[in-house]
Amino acid sequence: MPSLISSSRTPLAGTVKVPGDKSVSHRSIMLSALAVGRSEITGLLEGEDVLATADAMRAMGARVERLGNGHWVVDGVGIGGLMTPDDVIEMGNSGTSTRLLIGLIGTHDISVTMTGDASLRSRPMGRVMDPLTAMGASFSARDGKFLPLTVTGSDSPLATDYTTPMASAQVKSAVLLAGLNTPGITTVRERVATRDHTERMLKAMGADIETTEEDGLYVVRLAGQPELAPVNFEVPGDVSSSAFLLVAASIIPGSDITVQNVGMNPLRTGIVHALMAMGADIDILQERNLGGEPVADLRVRAAGLKAVTDLPVDPSTMIDEFPVLFCAAAVAKGISRFTGLEELRVKESDRLAVMAAGLKANGVELTEFEDGIEIKGAGGKVPGGAQVATHLDHRIAMSFSVLGQMAESAITIDDAAPIQTSFPVFIDLLTGLGAGLRLEG
Ligand code: S3P
Repeated sequence: MPSLISSSRTPLAGTVKVPGDKSVSHRSIMLSALAVGRSEITGLLEGEDVLATADAMRAMGARVERLGNGHWVVDGVGIGGLMTPDDVIEMGNSGTSTRLLIGLIGTHDISVTMTGDASLRSRPMGRVMDPLTAMGASFSARDGKFLPLTVTGSDSPLATDYTTPMASAQVKSAVLLAGLNTPGITTVRERVATRDHTERMLKAMGADIETTEEDGLYVVRLAGQPELAPVNFEVPGDVSSSAFLLVAASIIPGSDITVQNVGMNPLRTGIVHALMAMGADIDILQERNLGGEPVADLRVRAAGLKAVTDLPVDPSTMIDEFPVLFCAAAVAKGISRFTGLEELRVKESDRLAVMAAGLKANGVELTEFEDGIEIKGAGGKVPGGAQVATHLDHRIAMSFSVLGQMAESAITIDDAAPIQTSFPVFIDLLTGLGAGLRLEG
């Protein structure tokens, strides 16, 4: 298990592209696999999580083939055409693959056993098992809600009208994917709208899907059993991966970088607005549309960040970006306070506890609460000098790689391997811009 040493080197400078969006990449493979005919995907993220989705769809009968860098073709089996795999499917670290596939499988007349790494095996699956059980699927799961888990899909699924109990695009998408092979109208209601990539893609593929606002809720209605037309997906750059670069360039004095082709779906861009609220200098350039999603180039110049207590955005629009935002808060001037973040406790790791431990070990003063954290910013470099435990969480590894650039003494990340799940070129890309990152062991 290679560790990663992060220490300051030079200001960041240059123009880069980040790999494809992870959420869009997963969905482009799954939905292509359900179309009738051949879809092409360009800009696909080739991280371990997405490769797990590709393997799973192959195991269930779709032809999924890599032609070249980020360029893939998928021959779909049509809705209803998935087959029972002849072995357990291995989902690695990927919660998105697992939860969305539980939705898909739950309304196909097949049975699938899934497992994953230690992180994924500790993540709650009840949140998708509940609505899928109502639709007719049955489950056998370790301790009732954990992987390894077998899902047996229903041969006569029932449409549902489901209000998600937590803000989760995975739960919403699982129910919508289940709705694809269900007669009638499947409805999902959200108190807070979460990322809508599934809705956008299904619309582009010809599904009868409608989104409205009713009684303060975001409501999606999908008519079941459409024939999905194959499309050519162009995957935008991942704003969640870009976040590490945006924070790094904002906090390392003298930096000036441009990140091209960043997905700017308004339900994903909370991090950009949060950083701006802290005084970040970010120019949004060349706004355009790519494959049904807004994209832009982001120019970021270093700025002395100040603390923030009232984020101007809903947490769901930047749920994966809080770990690196906490690092920004650790070098900002003043005391930042973040609340309403209980969902962070059920990500790849308990991100509130793991970030609090890593920041504290590196000399950052903070208070952790059940649903958030208060961080006293150093107004410059943090002491650093300690090792951080990543707990199989890619975003913890990358966040502390960024913080190490603004530490008096190097920060050591115990395990760099999880970075492969979402951002395989992270180290090369950051060192190319001028960061000090070194693998060891
Ligand atoms: C994702 C939704 C979010 C996010 C995850 C990707 C998706 O999870 O954290 O990285 O692609 O739908 P939740 O739905 O659990 O919030």
